[in-house]
Amino acid sequence: MIVDAATPAGDWVLSYDGFEPEQEGLREVLCALGNGTIVSRAAAPNALADDVHYPGSYLAGGYDRLATTIAGETIENEDLVNLPNWLPLVFRIADGPWLRPGDVEQIGYRQALDLHAGVLRRVVRMRDGDGRVVRWDEERIVSMHAPHLAALRVALTPENFSDPMTIRAGLDGSVINWGVKRYRELNGRHLETLDTGAVEGDVLTLRSRFVQARREVALAARTRVTAAGGPVVPARIETLANQASHEFDVAAREGQAMVVEKIAAYASSQDKASSEPLLEAVKHVRRAGPFSELRAAHVKAWAHLWQQADIRVESEADQEAQLKLRLHIFHLLQTASGHSVDRDVGVPPRGWHGEAYRGHIMWDELFIFPYLNLRLPVLTRALLRYRYRRLDEARRLAAEAGLRGAMFPWQSGSDGREESQRIHLNPVSGNWIPDNSWRQRHIGAAVAYNVWQYVEATDDRGFLRDYGAELFLEIARFFASLAERRPDGRWGICGVMGPDEFHTAYPGADPRTEGGLDNNAYTNVMASWLLTRVVDVLDLLAPDDRARLIDRLEITDAELALWTEISRGLFIPFHDDGIISQFEGWEQLKEFDWDGYREKYGNIQRLDRLLEAEGDHPNHYKVSKQADVLMIFYLFSREEIDEIFHRLGYAFSPEQIFRNIQYYGRRTSHGSTLSFVTHAWVLARSDRQRSWALALQALDADIADVQGGTTQEGIHLGAMAGTVDLMQRCYTGIEVATGALLFNPRLPEEMRCLRTTVRYRRQVLDIEVDQERLTVSSRVMTASPVVIAYRGHARAISPGQSFAFELVREVKPDRPARESEQKRARAEHAEEQARDEQAGPESPSE
Ligand code: BGC
Repeated sequence: MIVDAATPAGDWVLSYDGFEPEQEGLREVLCALGNGTIVSRAAAPNALADDVHYPGSYLAGGYDRLATTIAGETIENEDLVNLPNWLPLVFRIADGPWLRPGDVEQIGYRQALDLHAGVLRRVVRMRDGDGRVVRWDEERIVSMHAPHLAALRVALTPENFSDPMTIRAGLDGSVINWGVKRYRELNGRHLETLDTGAVEGDVLTLRSRFVQARREVALAARTRVTAAGGPVVPARIETLANQASHEFDVAAREGQAMVVEKIAAYASSQDKASSEPLLEAVKHVRRAGPFSELRAAHVKAWAHLWQQADIRVESEADQEAQLKLRLHIFHLLQTASGHSVDRDVGVPPRGWHGEAYRGHIMWDELFIFPYLNLRLPVLTRALLRYRYRRLDEARRLAAEAGLRGAMFPWQSGSDGREESQRIHLNPVSGNWIPDNSWRQRHIGAAVAYNVWQYVEATDDRGFLRDYGAELFLEIARFFASLAERRPDGRWGICGVMGPDEFHTAYPGADPRTEGGLDNNAYTNVMASWLLTRVVDVLDLLAPDDRARLIDRLEITDAELALWTEISRGLFIPFHDDGIISQFEGWEQLKEFDWDGYREKYGNIQRLDRLLEAEGDHPNHYKVSKQADVLMIFYLFSREEIDEIFHRLGYAFSPEQIFRNIQYYGRRTSHGSTLSFVTHAWVLARSDRQRSWALALQALDADIADVQGGTTQEGIHLGAMAGTVDLMQRCYTGIEVATGALLFNPRLPEEMRCLRTTVRYRRQVLDIEVDQERLTVSSRVMTASPVVIAYRGHARAISPGQSFAFELVREVKPDRPARESEQKRARAEHAEEQARDEQAGPESPSE
């Protein structure tokens, strides 16, 4: 990866020099283009799917279900369908073969993704077996302006010959889902082509249907070729069962470029404001202007998005941090944009960029929504409605399990049923093994938490009234019914899994019949928090809305009283004098030989796979795939943690937080990219260096493909959004709580300055933080004042106003300080108090 430091746009451009076959899958994903409706991998238009190239395009929420018999079981999987390919564009010289990447020598290769413009450029110089060199200069967009359109413009220049050339542009409906090696034994043939055709000479069409979901997707493409002599008309048109193409014959002249413009449109039977998909797709390409016009409108749409989405960091340590953050924002906005708002979609952890996790919707929203809440809350609102539409299905899932309320599935697709696979392939051992990840009941708590955070950030009472409160209450009801009275009088939640997916059952248990663990601390804390919050949710509703909702859901006073009782009585396991046990019985597990395994395998992030291949299982050891207990410190402020534990009747001091972080930090393999974000977050105040080091690892998760091959199956959107949020909320200490926007910045030492803009309730606030100062400026508009506060100093800020706060040096109460440190801290604290008492730290400047 190269940063174009020489140009001012350096931290906006991701570029690669030279073609590297083993990196192509990764680059296809990192340079994928999308607009919230369609995402299309950056595969070469002249490439076919093979072990190097994978030209996948996906429709947001475009799922189809198929059955496969494997390992003696018939299993169903609902996949994100790989759509008919809009890209095919290939040429040949005279009567030679069609030239594909593997058939030519790529003597020059450069690929650059301009994140600001949303334009991918590929310049390739290719030489055929007879020494003829052709320069391929391509620009590509997936329009952020016109959500159905994708477009290519290729200038082809024969550098050292003048011979006839033929250019063939087509549409390919023969594609299958083949992008994830582990899934290749599963049925991936989701498409049937209904027909192919040609309209008005330059437009090709291909109509297809998802085999099970019966959803139709039509693809139309208009190709125009211009050579020195002017426009070239297609010489031949071919429409086969699964493919359509046309060929243009050109008398190529040395040094003279021929320009090919291919404008494609996808339309589906689920689109709004549309008639029949084929009519719509043809209409879109007919009405589309030339590439230059589409490009200009697209670039403008991106410019407007960036005005709302960018974050700027100045850091000494990593010159590329800025580019990486922008890359992460870019992919987030390609997955969910204004064009998603009217679609029935959630936000998938791997983007719509590849086939991993089949595009399912999981708990990763928890890492994604906080950034959107403060930037483009309209997106969170729409994405939360995906959950609301599946509330009935979640109620049914709970009822089937003998429970009440709404049980959201761990993986969710089209209709909200549980989509987690029942068995999965361990690529290390080749074994198909039971998949118990559906036991992660904490997913429901994440949905409820997301509702609450969205409402806190926006004060969108209408959403709370119409959707949010019902979601929240039904999830609370589910957790209450999941809890059981223990012999010690407390309440417990049994048979679940926490975020750490390594632990699926107790040692020796049969994972098929006796799976799950008891009293996962994170799940129980979340349950206690949400059962407590019920009162606040109800309080925010107008009395008559509240009464109607309570009546409709048949919530009685006795039920509310029970929820309160459970919220106070849930059991949290502890061991080793104040360490929260990940689950009950954790302390009895064996310590793991971390050094030995690192030495043996190098990368041990996916210990589960390594151990299974050895006939062992992580269930036996004190090992975590990812933050589990530490999620508590990620999601809640120190004050909230105090409140939660106090309410539960457990003594829990801030000093224990640091000890818990240390304890689990040593026992986590970071087998999920989310884990880097959480660990970086929880260390932000007590160990700034380690926090920054982990933040850099999270920033590298995809760009450097730290898991060695997973990014080519799709980006890791939770970690991507999580890193941006780490800058935006963690290092600025932003909290949306109790009707105020709280700040407590503490930048990593390596960071000089951070600038961000947040939308808080009805105001837009520009925030600038450096090592000494915090400035909050509200943009001019018509809006009521909102409350902002820096370390307890609250100010009502009105549009047009600005406040600057001198930052006080932070005492570090959550790390057991050495004596010298304690002395210094006491002195700093006294100094800080004296300063606070004098005048308050802010200096208003309007
Ligand atoms: C993690 C989950 C996550 C999923 C999708 C898994 O590896 O363990 O927490 O939801 O990836 O990102």
